Amino acid sequence: MTKLNSSFMIGDVEIPHRTVLAPMAGITNSAFRTIAKEFGAGLVVMEMISDKGIQYNNEKTLHMLHIDDGEHPVSIQLFGSDGDSLARAAEFIQENTKADLVDINMGCPVNKVVKNEAGAMWLKDPEKIYSVVKTVKSVLDIPLTVKMRTGWADASLAVENALAAESAGVAALAMHGRTRQQMYTGTCDHETLATVAKAITKVPFIANGDIRTVQDAKFMIEKVGADAVMVGRGARSNPYIFTQINHFFETGKMLPDLPFEKMLDIAEDHLTRLTDLKGETIAVREFRGLAPHYLRGTSGAAKIRGAVSRAETVAEVQELFAQLR
Ligand SMILES: Cc1cc2nc3c(=O)[nH]c(=O)nc-3n(C[C@H](O)[C@H](O)[C@H](O)COP(=O)(O)O)c2cc1C
Repeated sequence: MTKLNSSFMIGDVEIPHRTVLAPMAGITNSAFRTIAKEFGAGLVVMEMISDKGIQYNNEKTLHMLHIDDGEHPVSIQLFGSDGDSLARAAEFIQENTKADLVDINMGCPVNKVVKNEAGAMWLKDPEKIYSVVKTVKSVLDIPLTVKMRTGWADASLAVENALAAESAGVAALAMHGRTRQQMYTGTCDHETLATVAKAITKVPFIANGDIRTVQDAKFMIEKVGADAVMVGRGARSNPYIFTQINHFFETGKMLPDLPFEKMLDIAEDHLTRLTDLKGETIAVREFRGLAPHYLRGTSGAAKIRGAVSRAETVAEVQELFAQLR
């Protein structure tokens, strides 16, 4: 039975539980972050933000920086390819937003990002990792963290990359147990994560990848040796997972899954918060992509899923959900 001190520190920021909501572009805006927080996520991370978008005062980027009072502690993740530019964006975040932490994205695998030398491209060169962390850290008073993958084509640099970030002064390191080349295929490489967890001794190590159950989280702590777990897709379909994981870590006892009715309540609440944040038209359009995750594996929901993907209004979505109750 695992029992842990519930809180841990990232620099001088206290994280009340050992669970972190992973950054997910198009998903971890403040609507979803507040939901994750209310279900017990110790730390929530904003979807990745372009350093250039901040510098050029891009209206959409600045709008994304909104943080709700109920979210703290919250981290803003930046992506970019140049130390000075990332440092300027980090400084802007410190001075103009309510973020408690800044994170650098060193894992995004998509072509558009790596083509610009950002995201997972950093993984090719530990010296560059060291240098960019030093540069960005030098302008910040709030803690700086990095989220990376195990490597580019293979995991041979995983430990070196992690140590480069640690020795340059990150306050925590998160790692997703896949290479860039894997994208989202295959399974999470627990062996590499365990090796990195052992190598990182000065700051918390946050393990990420394929955590969909309390058992998966338990494995990351007990067998991989992580200090905390970061959950992405598992939370997208079930934000209640944070309550379940926290409860287990803190009491050693399992909580049952929520009944489907409750999942529908969470989904509808998500749509309401998204509507408050972005207005009905955009919210419903975005919700079309989110609803299937809540309805996963529900027998008889296929037709409803199809109809939700064509819905135009909140009322339409509510009517469709009512048919599932
Ligand atoms: C839709 C989606 C968007 C993502 N966006 C980001 C992002 O903005 N920044 C980032 O570091 N990782 C991003 N990721 C990766 C996740 O943070 C996480 O590392 C990955 O999904 C593995 O964890 P999981 O198995 O718990 O989902 C994204 C993943 C998904 C599925």
